[in-house]
Amino acid sequence: MSKLWGGRFTKSAEEWVDEFGASIGFDKQLVFEDIEGSIAHVTMLAACEIVTKEEAEQIKAGLNTLRKKAEAGTLAFSVAEEDIHLNLEKQLIDEIGPLGGKLHTGRSRNDQVATDMHLYLTKETKVIMEAVRAVQEALTKQAELHVETLIPGYTHLQRAQPVSFAHHLLAYFWMLERDYGRLKDSLKRVNMSPLGAGALAGTTFPIDRNLSAELLGFDGIYENSLDAVSDRDFIVEFLSASSTLMMHLSRLCEELILWSSQEFQFIEMDDAFATGSSIMPQKKNPDMAELIRGKTGRVYGNLFGLLTTLKGLPLAYNKDMQEDKEGMFDTVQTVKGSLRIFAGMIETMTVKQETMEKAVAQDFSNATELADYLATKGMPFREAHEVVGKLVLTAIQQDMFLLDLKMEDYKQASYLFETDIYEVLQPKTVVARRNSAGGTGFTQVKKALDKAYVILGAVSKK
Ligand code: ARG
Repeated sequence: MSKLWGGRFTKSAEEWVDEFGASIGFDKQLVFEDIEGSIAHVTMLAACEIVTKEEAEQIKAGLNTLRKKAEAGTLAFSVAEEDIHLNLEKQLIDEIGPLGGKLHTGRSRNDQVATDMHLYLTKETKVIMEAVRAVQEALTKQAELHVETLIPGYTHLQRAQPVSFAHHLLAYFWMLERDYGRLKDSLKRVNMSPLGAGALAGTTFPIDRNLSAELLGFDGIYENSLDAVSDRDFIVEFLSASSTLMMHLSRLCEELILWSSQEFQFIEMDDAFATGSSIMPQKKNPDMAELIRGKTGRVYGNLFGLLTTLKGLPLAYNKDMQEDKEGMFDTVQTVKGSLRIFAGMIETMTVKQETMEKAVAQDFSNATELADYLATKGMPFREAHEVVGKLVLTAIQQDMFLLDLKMEDYKQASYLFETDIYEVLQPKTVVARRNSAGGTGFTQVKKALDKAYVILGAVSKK
């Protein structure tokens, strides 16, 4: 059977060549978008009197039958028909006869495929945004339980200053808030209609592009037909926002992996999100966190893949652009899967408060506090830094921490030290006093929690 576009051909390609060129293997995922786009298109054709109302009704009935078959999983796709668009058109003609051939009036596969992608990505971006919210909620709930749980804060992975564990978790809440914002903003460009741009130059038929756009729920139409069929920025943008989102997840995964190690023992993953070893009976591996960290690589790969595919393309459509799909589908699945697992991991992990607080008590992360103490009493900060540095050295030499040093040691270092330093050096005090806006002080953390709950539109358990 010859191709739907076979008129000017005298011989057909061999099957293995068809196979190479076909996209049906993956673009069948767009089946519902393609049908939805066709229904809107034919409705518009009738409204503009390009086909009759009766013709449009018959075509829509045929499309609805195909939709039902697709839902039931009984629609058979063939490589000979190349892609989802030709497969559906062929099946429509088989279903309702030659009238089905009128569906493609004033339309090309080039604006059709772009329309499908815009519809698909609008829908999936919204799903992913909700999944981001679920992770933010898991973080917020866990944070709420740990406002006063202290954990060493690190720079260079060396203990720096103690922080509230809630503050640490909420740092990720805000990263995800930016990710949510990026996805939301991208919808302005994703939810646009290229339909009616034709192959590249528009069409001679008196179509109404605004009507089909409206029927499909798009916020507007592309201004330029060449741009409409050639633009894949909206996918690049999605892949880019997804890459940043995965980068954030991956960073917290790295921390979860470190924290669940024997060396840290700050958290324990729930059994549901860990696996054992086939040889070492004692092992409990944070596989899911590792896998999300790993999958971040493929999402970056999909972004770079598409950017590279697009970089040398002349206007307008080129077959290269068929390569836009697999990376997009893969990213949607990867991001959705990762977010779902991630929320579960955060919700169910056990926080080992005692180990965290022991870690905070047994280090020098309160040293800044001592320097600030002297600076508050008038000593230039740089000098205070030096004095405290010497005290740290004294303590290290005596195998002690700052709280173990005697008052004489302090007095010898500076006459400004009074007995209140023992209170000042307590980790809880250290954290509580970092009360600048956005700091780790408990009052600030509670304010941040309130803001988080407002953003989530949820009510705190307090
Ligand atoms: N399968 C094609 C793609 O995904 C659809 C558009 C084909 N257009 C064409 N003129 N060959 O890009």
